[in-house]
Amino acid sequence: MLNIHFAPLQGYTEDSYRRIHHKVCGGISSYYTPFVRWEHGSVRSKDKRDIRAQFNEGVPVVPQIIASEPDEMQKLIDAVQSEGYTRIDLNMGCPFPLQTRHAHGAGILPHPEKVAALCQIIEKEKLISFSVKMRLGLNSADEWKEILPILNDTPLQHVTLHPRIGAQQYKGMVDMNSFQEFQQQCQHPIIYNGDITTVDDILRIEQQFPTLSGIMIGRGLLARPTLAMEYANGTALTDAQVTSTLVQMHQLLLEHQQTVIPGEAALLNKIRTFWDYTEPTIGHKAWKKLKKAGNLKNYLATVNWI
Ligand SMILES: Cc1cc2nc3c(=O)[nH]c(=O)nc-3n(C[C@H](O)[C@H](O)[C@H](O)COP(=O)(O)O)c2cc1C
Repeated sequence: MLNIHFAPLQGYTEDSYRRIHHKVCGGISSYYTPFVRWEHGSVRSKDKRDIRAQFNEGVPVVPQIIASEPDEMQKLIDAVQSEGYTRIDLNMGCPFPLQTRHAHGAGILPHPEKVAALCQIIEKEKLISFSVKMRLGLNSADEWKEILPILNDTPLQHVTLHPRIGAQQYKGMVDMNSFQEFQQQCQHPIIYNGDITTVDDILRIEQQFPTLSGIMIGRGLLARPTLAMEYANGTALTDAQVTSTLVQMHQLLLEHQQTVIPGEAALLNKIRTFWDYTEPTIGHKAWKKLKKAGNLKNYLATVNWI
C-alpha cells in the first residue's frame, strides 16, 4: 500500500482545511503547506500563521518553502525551524510567472548553479530533513537531466515529480515516459504527482511503477476528500456518501472561518472556494448554483439542498 500525500494548494489547503480533512477523512501520510515565501524583507505573515505549531498540532504537516538564493532559503529555514519542525519541502515546481521570473519554483530548473547553491544549504543543515517537489523543467522536458545529478548528491528524504513543464502550468498531458526515465535515474525515493482523481488511478500508477515510494494528490482530493481513505480501506463510497462528507467538512470550515473572517461578503468569498474543484463529485447543477449564490443566506440554503 502506497503512502498518499496531500499536495500543497495555495488558497485551499490552509491550516484549517488540513486540520478538518485530517479529522474527518484521514488516509494521508503528510500534508504539505502551500509554499512559505520571503516577501518585502520578512516571511509573509499569512504564511507564518499557516505554519504556527498551535494550528497544526496532531496533523502530519510538512512546511514547504520557495527560494532561489541561499540567504533567502536560510531565513525561511530559520522561520520554519523556530516553530519546531524537523522537515521541509523545497518548491521547484511552481509554474506561475510571478515566481518563475525570479528563478523561484520551476523558474530555478534552467539554472543548475542556483540549485547547487541551495543544495549546499541542505547538506549543511543537520536538524532538518528535506524533500524536493519539482517539474520536468520550466521550458523543456529535458531540464531535469542537469538538475537530477545535483539532487542525487544531496541528502533528501524523497523527490516528488509532477511530470509537466512549467510552461504547461496545469494543462496538457502528464509526460509518463519522462517520469519513467526520471525514476530510473533518481537515487532518492520518488513520489508521483499529477491528475490522480480516482482509486483506479492510484492502483494504475502503483502497478505501473512498483518501486514508487508514494503518490501525492492535490485537486483530486479537493474534489473527493475521501479518496485516500477509500484507497486505504479498499472500499469505494457512493457519490452521496462523498457529498455528505463534503458537507460535513464545509460545516466545520464555516464554523472556523466565521470566527476569523469579519464581514459577510468576505466570508462568502472565502468559504465558497471550498467547492471550486468539486464539480465531478457534486455535479454541474449543484456546483453552478453554489457559484452563483449572491449572498450567504442563499448560499447556505444551496449547501443544504445539494
Ligand atoms: C490552485 C493551486 C495552488 C497550488 N499551490 C501550490 C503550492 O503552494 N506549492 C506547490 O508545490 N504546488 C502547488 N500547486 C501544485 C499542486 O501541489 C500539484 O502539484 C498540482 O495541482 C498537480 O497535482 P494534482 O493533479 O493532483 O492536483 C498548486 C496547484 C493549484 C491548482
